[in-house]
Amino acid sequence: MKTDEVVIREVMLRDGLQNIPEFIPTEAKIELFRLIAASGIRNMEITSFVSPKAIPQFRDAAQMAQSVLRMKPEGVEVSALVPNLKGAQLALESGMHKVGFVMSVSESHNISNVRRTTAESMDELKKIVELKEKYPDLDVKAGMATVFGCPFEGRIKPEVTLGFIRRFYQLGLRHMSMADTVGFGNPREVKEMCRLCVTEFPDVTFSIHLHNTRGLGLANSLAAYEVGIRIHDGAVGGLGGCPFAPGAKGNTSTEDLVFMFQEMGVETGVKMDALLEASRYFQKVKKDVRYSSSIIEVGVPVPKGPITKDGYEQKWNM
Ligand code: COA
Ligand code: ZN
Repeated sequence: MKTDEVVIREVMLRDGLQNIPEFIPTEAKIELFRLIAASGIRNMEITSFVSPKAIPQFRDAAQMAQSVLRMKPEGVEVSALVPNLKGAQLALESGMHKVGFVMSVSESHNISNVRRTTAESMDELKKIVELKEKYPDLDVKAGMATVFGCPFEGRIKPEVTLGFIRRFYQLGLRHMSMADTVGFGNPREVKEMCRLCVTEFPDVTFSIHLHNTRGLGLANSLAAYEVGIRIHDGAVGGLGGCPFAPGAKGNTSTEDLVFMFQEMGVETGVKMDALLEASRYFQKVKKDVRYSSSIIEVGVPVPKGPITKDGYEQKWNM
C-alpha cells in the first residue's frame, strides 16, 4: 500500500448494529452492504458469530455471510467477528474464512463481554488457529478491546497489550487490531502505543478501531496514521458501541474519516456521495436512528473556485 493511502474498514453492519435492540431485517442489512460496497469501501465486517442470547441482532449471521459471499463482491474483503471457537466454526461452515477474534486486554471487560478470563480466551484462540489444518484459507485477525482504557479497570498499561501481541505473534498471527472500546484514548497515547507496536512488530499489519465517545475519534485516527497505521475502522453514521461496556458510544463516523483523509490528500477510494446513500437508506429502515457524524449533519463544503495545488483558501473560500 502507498503511504498516502488508507483502508477504511466499515464496521456498521457489526459494531453499528450490535446495540440496536430491534432486529434489522437481513434484506436491509444486505442492501446496506451493497450500498456501502458501491461507495468504494474495500473492507467490511459484515456480521458477528456470537450467541444469539447475548446479541439477538446477529441471529442471522450465517444467512448474512452466505448471502454476501454469494454476491462475490469484487475487491471487497469481508470478515466477521467471532468471540469463541464455536463462533469460528459457525463462520467457517457458512463459508466465511476471514474472522476477527475479539478479546479484551483487561480481565474484567473480557469477563463481562465474552464470559471468559483472558487466559481462557487465549486457549480459545489457539483452538481457532488449529482449525487451519481443516480450513487452510482461515485468516484470523486478533482483535484487542479496551487497549486505551477499560470501563471497569481504567487505564491499561501498554506493556499489557504488548504481552498479548507477543502471544498472538507466537501463534503465527500477523494481523491485529487495537480498539478504544469506550473512548478513553487520547492522540498522544494512541500514537505512542501504535509506535511501540509497529517498531517491535514490523511484519504485523495493525489496524485501529476507535470509538468517538468524547470526540477524539478523528484525532486518534490521525495520530495512529502518523506512525504508520493504514487500516482504520469506521461506522456509517458514527453508529456502534459495545453492549457489555458501560458508557460505550459510537465508532468514529466513516463519513468523517473519509472526509479527513481525502482532504489531507490521503486516498481512501471512497466516493462520499455514494457513501451518504447508505445512511439515507438506513434512516428509512430505522426512522429513529440518531447519527453522530459531522458530514451527515452539514455535508461537504462546496468548492468555490478552481482547485489549485496550493489553493486551499481559494478552494474553501467560505
Ligand atoms: N455463536 C452462537 N451460539 C453460541 C456461540 C456462538 N459464537 N457461542 C456459544 N453459543 C451458544 C451455545 O451453543 C449455548 O447454546 P445453548 O444454550 O442453546 O446450549 C449458549 O450459547 C451458551 O454457550 P456458552 O459457551 O456457555 O457461552 P456463554 O453463555 O458463556 O457466552 C459468548 C459466551 C462469548 C458466546 C457470549 O458471551 C457472547 O456471544 N458474547 C457476545 C460478545 C459481543 O459480541 N460483544 C460485542 C462485540 S466486542
Ligand atoms: Zn467497537
